[in-house]
Amino acid sequence: MRMKRITEGFSPGEQSVRINGSHQMSANKQLKILVLAGDGIGPEVTQQAINVLRSVAELGGYDFQFTEALIGGVAIKQQGSPLPTATLDAALESDAVLLGAVGGNEFNQLSPDKRPEAGLLGLRQALGGFANLRPSFAWPALATNSPLKPEVVEGADILFVRELLGGLYFGEPRQWDREKNSAWNTLRYTRDEVVRVARVAFELAAKRRKKVTSVDKANVLEVSQLWRATVTEVAHDYPGITLDHQYVDACAMHLMNTPRNFDVIVTENLFGDILSDEAAVITGSLGMLPSATIGGAVNLYEPVHGSAPDIAGKGLANPLGAILTAAMLLRHSGNLEADAEAIEAAVRHVLEQGYRTADLARGNTPGVQVVSTQEMGKQVNEALNRIIDRSQALHAV
Ligand code: IPM
Ligand code: MN
Repeated sequence: MRMKRITEGFSPGEQSVRINGSHQMSANKQLKILVLAGDGIGPEVTQQAINVLRSVAELGGYDFQFTEALIGGVAIKQQGSPLPTATLDAALESDAVLLGAVGGNEFNQLSPDKRPEAGLLGLRQALGGFANLRPSFAWPALATNSPLKPEVVEGADILFVRELLGGLYFGEPRQWDREKNSAWNTLRYTRDEVVRVARVAFELAAKRRKKVTSVDKANVLEVSQLWRATVTEVAHDYPGITLDHQYVDACAMHLMNTPRNFDVIVTENLFGDILSDEAAVITGSLGMLPSATIGGAVNLYEPVHGSAPDIAGKGLANPLGAILTAAMLLRHSGNLEADAEAIEAAVRHVLEQGYRTADLARGNTPGVQVVSTQEMGKQVNEALNRIIDRSQALHAV
């Protein structure tokens, strides 16, 4: 028996979810971008992403307006809150939010609701984006950089769709009862929360290799049983997409054994957090991974890596995750697919030229040149200018 459709009136192929943000670049080519550089290496990598966006604006005749505000540890220090009201207001008024990183060792003693991370979680909740897209791509030039064998990582191209507003991160009740020496968090999902993120995964898979792997722990958790049943139901609306299910422990292993077998992976908040860091191994460094959070009022763009306080301010950080995040911003908030691809092509080019930040310089590979955060950003920017110039020249003939 054919299962009843989940959403009345929805027909396959119809755009049922917003893959692009509701705030889009207006006809006058303006995009208001709120920059939240945050802590640690956040400011230095974000600066490189902004430089690249400025180049795109100049070459394409767009008007990108950048405003800055505080979040995380720096906001705690200067304004007494990890998410000041002024920051939240500015975020809700912007077309897109570009974030660096939050967190620092000096805040480790604070309770979770007072830490820099609470600012980020509060921002995610306020903006409302529930689908966090985290691509993990095996850049050919970095094939020998991964600790995995080149023949294992070659051709891997995975898109994680991490549910971002539910699960243990936000579930109530939550508490550490110090008197009773007991602590608890709540893992809860509703069917609607699973439906909406599953739809994003299927829509995106339709534009890729048409395969969705849903990851859960349905052999143990009721929440995962609801997750699996719901994703299975949603799949009926997407007959062209193959769906399979994996337990999270098995998935963690398959990711390292056969990363090429994955296309889109959809999973709940905490599993997605863990698996996407693991998938950085395929790329060779966590510093390479970008992310975009869509589905809410304003899209949020942040590299997957953290604030790395130990290397902050030393020019050692890899800006490519932030730069690739800028490409996602152009794609999902600017509808500027060609410009997004130009940035990705520029990154590919500088990697092929042998430029590496310290995190990418494993071993002594011949032809490799170790460069600073700033120099890497500059190389990408120069390559981008050449790529866009060339494509404009082609269009002019
Ligand atoms: C991430 C980070 C965050 C998360 C932290 C900083 C709250 O690890 O974006 O992956 O757990 O979501
Ligand atoms: Mn994480």
